[in-house]
Amino acid sequence: MKHSSSLQTIKAVDFDQPQTLGAVCGVGRGWARVPDVPSPTEQRALKERIRALLIRHQAVLVAHYYVDAQLQELADETGGCVADSLEMARFGRDHPARTLVVAGVRFMGETAKILSPGKRVLMPDLDATCSLDLGCPADEFSAFCDAHPERTVVVYANTSAAVKARADWMVTSSIGLEIIAQLHAQGEKILWAPDRHLGQYIQQKTGADMLLWQGSCVVHDEFKGVELELLRAEHPHAKVLVHPESPAAVVAQADVVGSTTQLIAAAQTLDATEFIVATDLGILYKMRAAAPTKHFIAAPTAGNSATCKSCAYCPWMAMNGLANLADVLERGHNEIQIDAEIAARARVPIDRMLDFAARQRSSVRASGDLARDGALFAHVGPA
Ligand code: 13P
Ligand code: SF4
Repeated sequence: MKHSSSLQTIKAVDFDQPQTLGAVCGVGRGWARVPDVPSPTEQRALKERIRALLIRHQAVLVAHYYVDAQLQELADETGGCVADSLEMARFGRDHPARTLVVAGVRFMGETAKILSPGKRVLMPDLDATCSLDLGCPADEFSAFCDAHPERTVVVYANTSAAVKARADWMVTSSIGLEIIAQLHAQGEKILWAPDRHLGQYIQQKTGADMLLWQGSCVVHDEFKGVELELLRAEHPHAKVLVHPESPAAVVAQADVVGSTTQLIAAAQTLDATEFIVATDLGILYKMRAAAPTKHFIAAPTAGNSATCKSCAYCPWMAMNGLANLADVLERGHNEIQIDAEIAARARVPIDRMLDFAARQRSSVRASGDLARDGALFAHVGPA
């Protein structure tokens, strides 16, 4: 591990870039900054500074499970939250703090700002993006929608505000299946973007008529079905936990398919001592905390550390560090700004999802099904 506080390196990241109305897949080139790792003494000092700054600025830290464990720990200790993208959105919207500091990737900060236009939303690094967002430019997506006006447009949370502004619904991985099942039951045909694997999974589970944008996540796209089969043979009692951004050959071997929160809940509640985990390995911090006696094994990716693109760590989530978090609170820069008209339009599909989730949650609570409620609607059972 490199301990330094001055130099930063840049990592190139190739991602799927669909072309000509989503029909052909090309390759785009993105980049991520690799933050310096502070020494243990620097870490302690930075955490103290951040605690004081959060109080001084009446700010709350909203973090995703994939960011550095130190940031997750700080969010928990200071009354913030560590959550999946649906819970992050809800928490930020409902929290009384005047400033939200979102430790995650750009679309999470934008969603927070769209839902709380009166709050200041800061991020440690505004260039922390997502291959799904990069691979779905708003103008091309808009042309795709124009070509299929008869379809209901459903977009994944991992998109820009401008793409959301073109959508009828936004969904996250924790609730996409239920929302599309309902739209399908109402006879609607779907235009889906951008993650092709999640789209295919939902299509297969619901039978909905879905036209798919061909984007992918650089982390989950690398999990490999054949290698997973071999690993399962070595660990025949292990349960397999898979995020639905993974390819179909991996999803097909899952005991549980779900959002990050749902996978953590499954690790805690399933009657097994060993788990194979196919998602960003930042999640292990919370999985181990939730199930300290259980053993977690990383699902195999496309290569070893020399050849894999992500090695099961999102390069953009990794751009969040203690030093840039402290800096952003100190200087008040890196504020999310969104054009008011785009934000107002993007809010409609997000609110639809949050209202749907609220209705679903109250009906589960009314039914008294605590296990289902506790698991936040995890899709426990064979994929
Ligand atoms: P979740 O909504 O499951 O947290 O997923 C967000 C994400 O970016 C996964 O790669
Ligand atoms: Fe995007 Fe994948 Fe990173 Fe999630 S893990 S933010 S989907 S690139």
